[in-house]
Amino acid sequence: MKIAVFGLGYIGIISAACLAEQGYKVIGVDPDDVKLESVKKGKSPVIEPFINEIVSKVIKLGHLEVTKDYDYAVKNTNIALICVGTPSLENGQVDLSFIFDTARQIGDSLKNKNNFEREYLILIRSTSLPGTVDKYADIIQKHSGLKLKHDFDVISNPEFLREGNAINDFYNPPYTLIGCECKKSESIIRQMYSFIEAPFIVTKIKTAEMLKYVNNTFHALKVGFANEIARFCKKNGIDSREVMNIFIMDKKLNISEYYLRPGFAFGGSCLPKDVKALSYESKSIQLDLPIIQNIVDSNQNHIEWALELILKEKVETIGVMGLTFKNGTDDLRESPSIMLVKKLIENEKKVFVFDRNIKISKLIDQNKKYLEEQLKDYSKILVDNPEHFFKKIDMVVITNRDNEYRELIMNLGNEKKLKIFDFVNLFPDFKSSDLMEGIGW
Ligand SMILES: NC(=O)c1ccc[n+]([C@@H]2O[C@H](COP(=O)([O-])OP(=O)(O)OC[C@H]3O[C@@H](n4cnc5c(N)ncnc54)[C@H](O)[C@@H]3O)[C@@H](O)[C@H]2O)c1
Repeated sequence: MKIAVFGLGYIGIISAACLAEQGYKVIGVDPDDVKLESVKKGKSPVIEPFINEIVSKVIKLGHLEVTKDYDYAVKNTNIALICVGTPSLENGQVDLSFIFDTARQIGDSLKNKNNFEREYLILIRSTSLPGTVDKYADIIQKHSGLKLKHDFDVISNPEFLREGNAINDFYNPPYTLIGCECKKSESIIRQMYSFIEAPFIVTKIKTAEMLKYVNNTFHALKVGFANEIARFCKKNGIDSREVMNIFIMDKKLNISEYYLRPGFAFGGSCLPKDVKALSYESKSIQLDLPIIQNIVDSNQNHIEWALELILKEKVETIGVMGLTFKNGTDDLRESPSIMLVKKLIENEKKVFVFDRNIKISKLIDQNKKYLEEQLKDYSKILVDNPEHFFKKIDMVVITNRDNEYRELIMNLGNEKKLKIFDFVNLFPDFKSSDLMEGIGW
């Protein structure tokens, strides 16, 4: 296996040196003479613990050579790792021009490659937006006249290493992720990374491209959140480090997979109230905390977005399953389902609601008061009997993750075709049929 590495910056030099250390023949490509001269002398072009030792070793062994001649590199390898920069333009847009330059270069070289084994594999390691791999493949097809998946393949393989800990991260990533839709390419990459013990995840190309953005945005969000908490604490004479140390001790709810599954908007008696309280309090002491102060708006946007999706279906009679803020409770306070029902009615839709935990005759106290305030005609909307409920509607919108709703829908008779809008992933394996049509996201 001979590997070309395009770009010898922070990511490229680590990948090139470590793959060469594993015994692969690696050719590094970069237009920058200073970087090339440095590597030729056995010195890394970037500062990073342990990288100099590896570069010096692999250069001496002849496992790594570097050049600006991309044509030579492509003609003498069968895999290319693309590690060029993807910087921001002034307006924030990502500049993918360096990536697409390499596509043109590789396309031109493949066109004239002698003894072509009819297979060349390109791994995009640079962070690039979903859709980049497809465009990349188009450019190569145009420049080479070759056919994707027959003569060459392009795969997304995002890099997760952190500068300062790069060698360790390269050998011990959280997982190796590839967006790859060809079994043959997958097996070659599995073999190439066989020295890495981490889980190997194969997914769709755009999913893999998305992942690095999700990771980095989440990391940035965590830093921003912790620093906003720190600013609030400082203003109130509280030790934020102690607060966050205790916060991260909760591995059950705080630092865990909880609250990270896409679904319907949040509501209930605690989250909206407490986020609003912290936002209000911070504004009243002239503290600008844009992340915290915009959470409620973001949640509201999610309800608006759900409404738009439903309205697009142009169905007149809609059934909502779940009126409480989540399943397993009868708490209606700040329920996003109530907000959705209200907006559907404002948009002149006929709406019926089924919620096992809400019985008109048993409504008391705050729940009754809240429902009367929000949906004054609630007694005409709520339907106790699921059979009657399904008879009345043409589309069902699921807002609570209640397995009973799943059972009810699965056991429906075949009187009419029902559209199902599943906002809570109650039907992860749903397949549209003559009786049901799944619309979702
Ligand atoms: N730096 C990190 O910690 C890190 C971590 C994970 C992912 N990434 C991603 O990896 C990519 C590379 O990041 P980096 O920090 O190594 O960038 P960098 O700017 O340090 O290096 C990019 C290199 O690509 C070279 N280059 C430009 N056009 C070229 C071409 N046509 N052929 C060959 N080489 C070319 C440049 O001369 C430069 O040396 C980016 O998409 C980045 O977002 C970076």
